Amino acid sequence: MTYVVNESCVKCKLMDCVEVCPVDCFYEGENMLVIHPDECIDCGVCVPECPVEAIQPDTESGVEKWIALNAEYAQKWPNITAKKTPPPDSRNWEGVSNKFELYFSPNPGTGD
Ligand code: SF4
Ligand code: F3S
Repeated sequence: MTYVVNESCVKCKLMDCVEVCPVDCFYEGENMLVIHPDECIDCGVCVPECPVEAIQPDTESGVEKWIALNAEYAQKWPNITAKKTPPPDSRNWEGVSNKFELYFSPNPGTGD
């Protein structure tokens, strides 16, 4: 089991989650984060930290797409361990549907 970041993070990218992770296993894309499945120790403390409920356990139904996405981009994007300033329009994207299809960027973020 691991935890994964889903499309609710896209363009919200609030980064509260990285502040609490005891093993620093978040990785930064241009407009979302992912969790490294082999580094996550399944503690769950990041889940309530995300204001847009973008983090879920990989045991929930319908999560297969996000498991694959997290596994792939955790190897391509840089590590992030400290919160930065979120995008200025971050909260406008809360609850917006189809963000992954419309806005996901495969480009890396800048990391720490
Ligand atoms: Fe980090 Fe724990 Fe969240 Fe995994 S579940 S990403 S170890 S805070
Ligand atoms: Fe994304 Fe939530 Fe973290 S929006 S960056 S998973 S706090």
